[in-house]
Amino acid sequence: MFHPPRKYRHRDVQGHPLRPETLMMGYGYDPQFSEGAVKCPIFQTSTFTFKTAEDGKSFFQLAYGLREQGPAEEPGLIYSRVNNPDLEILEERLGLWDEAESGLAFSSGMAAISTTMFSVLRPGDVLLASAPVYGGTEFLIENILPQFGIKRVWFGAGSLEPGLADAVETARGLGRVGLIYVETPANPTNGLVDIAACAAAARSLRNADGRRPLVAVDNTFLGPLWQRPLRHGADFVIYSLTKYVGGHSDLIAGACLGTESAIAPVRGLRTILGTIADPHTCWLLLRSLETLKLRMTGSMENARRVAEFLAGHPKVKAVHYLGFLGPADPQLGLYQRQCQAPGSTFSFEVDGGEAEAFRLLNRLEVIKLAVSLGGTESLIEHPATMTHSDIPPGRQLEMGITPSMVRLSVGLEHPEDLIADLRQALAGI
Ligand SMILES: Cc1ncc(COP(=O)(O)O)c(C=O)c1O
Repeated sequence: MFHPPRKYRHRDVQGHPLRPETLMMGYGYDPQFSEGAVKCPIFQTSTFTFKTAEDGKSFFQLAYGLREQGPAEEPGLIYSRVNNPDLEILEERLGLWDEAESGLAFSSGMAAISTTMFSVLRPGDVLLASAPVYGGTEFLIENILPQFGIKRVWFGAGSLEPGLADAVETARGLGRVGLIYVETPANPTNGLVDIAACAAAARSLRNADGRRPLVAVDNTFLGPLWQRPLRHGADFVIYSLTKYVGGHSDLIAGACLGTESAIAPVRGLRTILGTIADPHTCWLLLRSLETLKLRMTGSMENARRVAEFLAGHPKVKAVHYLGFLGPADPQLGLYQRQCQAPGSTFSFEVDGGEAEAFRLLNRLEVIKLAVSLGGTESLIEHPATMTHSDIPPGRQLEMGITPSMVRLSVGLEHPEDLIADLRQALAGI
C-alpha cells in the first residue's frame, strides 16, 4: 500500500475534529511521494515492482490471507486488480463520509451489488429484499440469483405490501436468510425502508450457530450526505458512485463499505471476479469528492423549488418528493429518524398515461432526456419503459411505477430555468 506519513491521516487540528468535506482535499495522500504535486497523480499502471523477492512473497501472503496482518503493517502494492494508490485513497475518503472502517471501490454500482451478494449468499439461502429497487438489481435478484439456488422474498418500501414482519415469516419458512437487501429511498418511488427495523429483523433471524443475516443498504439516492445507514445498524452501505458521488455524468463506478470483518470476504471475491474500479476512474472520483457537499446541497435546494412548482401545476397528479411528507404520512417519522434532507431525485405523475409522459419528455429543452441521476445537469426519464422496463408491467403497477410517472434528477442549473422548461413542456402535453 501507499504509505502516507501519519500527518496525512490526521483527522483533527489540536483536538478540533476535521469534517469530511475538509478531509476530502488531502486525506491519505502525501505530496512528497509525487514531486510535491498537490493533487494525487493517476497511477495508470497494471502492476507494481517489488524491491525484493521477499517483499513480493510477503505482499502476496497478506493479500491472499496466508498470514495475519502485522499491527502497523499496510498491504504492499501488487497489481491493479488487487490494489492501486488512487483506489486506496478513494476508499479511505469514502469511508470518512459513512464513518466506515473499510471500503471497496468497484467498476460499477452493479459490480458492487453483485459482488457483495455473491460473497454473502450461498445456494439454498433466502434473500429478503425491499421493493422497488433499481431495475438492474431487480433483474439480478429475480433472474440471476435463482440460477445459483438463491431464493428471494420481497417486502414493500413505503406503504407497499407485504410489510417486513410478514416477509420475515415467509422467508423463515423457506430456508436460511443470508442477506437483507434494502434500497431506500426506493428508485423511482422514494418509498422509505426502516433500516433499524431491518437490523432488528436480522437479529431475530440469528441461527443456532450464532450467525445472522447481514443487512445491505443501497444508499445511492441520499448518501453519503443525507443518510448514513451504518448508524442505523446496516452492515454494508452500497453505492452507485456513477450518481451523486461521481456527480458529473462522466464515469461508472460503485462502492461497498462496512466493518473490516464484513468487507474482507467481499474484497477477496472482488479480486477474483475483477470487479475493481480502474485507476483513472478512482482519480476522477477523488476530484468529485472535493465538491460533493456543495453539489448535493445545491441540487437539493434546486429540487425543493422545482418540486414546489410541480406540486402546484394542474397537469401534475402527484409529486413523490420526500420534502412533502405531511404530518398524516406514516413515513414522516421514519424520514425524520433516518434522513437529513430530501435529496434531489424524485418522480412525479402527469395527468394521463404514457403518451402524455412522453410528450412532456420530448418537449423539454433544458432538462435532458437520459437515464441516470445525481449529475450536475438535470436528467429526466420514464421508469416504466426505461430504467425499470425489466420489471413486468403488472408488477410495476404493484410497486407504484405507473405509465404516467417520470423520474427527475435535479442538477445545478438555475432553478427558475428548470421551472421555465417544465412549464413550457407541461403546457403542451
Ligand atoms: C439506486 C441504484 N442502485 C444501483 C444502480 C446501478 O449502478 P451502476 O449503473 O453504476 O451500475 C443504479 C443505477 O441507476 C441505481 O439507481
